[in-house]
Amino acid sequence: MPNGNAIIVKGLRKSYGKTEVLKGVDLVVEKGTMLALLGPNGAGKTTVVRILSTLLSHDGGEASVNGYDTATQSNEVRSVIGLTGQYAAVDEYLTGRQNLLMMGRLYRLSAAGARQRAEELLEQFDLVDAANRVVKKYSGGMRRRLDLAISLIATPPIIFLDEPTTGLDPRSRLAMWDVIRKLMDSGATILLTTQYLEEADQLADKIAVIDQGRVIAEGTADELKQKVGSDRLELTMATDADFAKAEKIVSGDNKQTHPKRRVISIATSGGVSGLNAVLSSLENAGVTVETLSLHKPTLDDVFLHLTGHGAEAEEHEPNIEETHV
Ligand SMILES: Nc1ncnc2c1ncn2[C@@H]1O[C@H](COP(=O)(O)OP(=O)(O)OP(=O)(O)O)[C@@H](O)[C@H]1O
Ligand SMILES: [Mg+2]
Repeated sequence: MPNGNAIIVKGLRKSYGKTEVLKGVDLVVEKGTMLALLGPNGAGKTTVVRILSTLLSHDGGEASVNGYDTATQSNEVRSVIGLTGQYAAVDEYLTGRQNLLMMGRLYRLSAAGARQRAEELLEQFDLVDAANRVVKKYSGGMRRRLDLAISLIATPPIIFLDEPTTGLDPRSRLAMWDVIRKLMDSGATILLTTQYLEEADQLADKIAVIDQGRVIAEGTADELKQKVGSDRLELTMATDADFAKAEKIVSGDNKQTHPKRRVISIATSGGVSGLNAVLSSLENAGVTVETLSLHKPTLDDVFLHLTGHGAEAEEHEPNIEETHV
C-alpha cells in the first residue's frame, strides 16, 4: 500500500423512510487510483457519492475522504473534492466560458485567476470553439464535459464522477473516456459510478460491484472475471426456427439467450468433448449453427453470475430473458 487510502467507507447504511437503500457498504479507494462502483439502476451508487460528498447524511457506519469524516468535517471534505453529479446544474443561459468564470469566482479565485483557469479548462475539455455559445445550445457530450470542467476549477485531488457517460452517444463516450484518462494521469483519485461494464473494465484500477445496497464483489476486472472461471461458448443459429429448437436442446451453467440475435451462450466446463457434445446434439436435431465462438468471461458474465441479472440498463436489446425470474 504505497500511497494509503483516499476514501474509506465502512458499514455505510442509509434509509429513505422505511426503505433501506444502503445495507452496510464497505469500500476503499487507494490514493491516485480509480475505483469504479458498478451497478444497475437503483443499486445505491448516487447515494454513496452524495454521502461521500457531504450532500447527504448517513444513518450508520463511517465514511472518510482524505482522512476527513464526512459527518463531522464536511468543510474539510468539500475542500478536497470535485463532484460531477448525475443531475448537475450548469446555467443554461450563460455561455460555457461564463459558467466557468462564475464558478471560479465562487471558488474565490481572483478575476485574473478565474480567467486563466477557465481558459485552461476550455482547452483541456475541447470546448474552445463552443466557449462563447450558451449552454442551452450544447450537445449532451459538450454539457458533460463542461460539467466536469466546472467541478475541476479548484483542482481537487479527489474526484467523484457519477455516471459521466450515461446517455452519451458512442463517440462522445470515447471522448469522455479520454478526458477521464487524462485526469487519472494527473494523479487524481477517482470514484466513478457506472452501469457500463465496459467503462469499468476500460478505466478502473479496481471495481466494486454494487447491487441492492450491498457490495457483492470487489477486485480488478481480471480478478472478477476469474470468479466466473470457465470460458463461455456462444452459438449463433442460422434462423429463428433453428434458435427455437436450439433453445430447448442447449443446456449449461449461466445460460443466456438473445432471441433477436439468435444467440445462446453457456459456460463450458467440459473442454473439447463438452463442445462436441453440444454440437452433435444440435446436428442430430437438424439445427444449423451459423457461427460459434469461445471466449473468456466478460464483466457481463460476472454480473450475471453474481446477481442472476444483467448490469446494464437495456438500451439496445432486451436480452438475458430467462434471468428475469
Ligand atoms: N430522495 C429519495 N427518497 C426516496 N428514495 C430514494 C431517494 N433517492 C434515492 N432513492 C432510492 O434509493 C435507491 C438507490 O438510489 P440511487 O440513486 O443511489 O441509485 P443509483 O445506483 O445511483 O441508480 P441509477 O443508476 O439509476 O442512478 C433507489 O431505489 C432509489 O429509488
Ligand atoms: Mg445514480
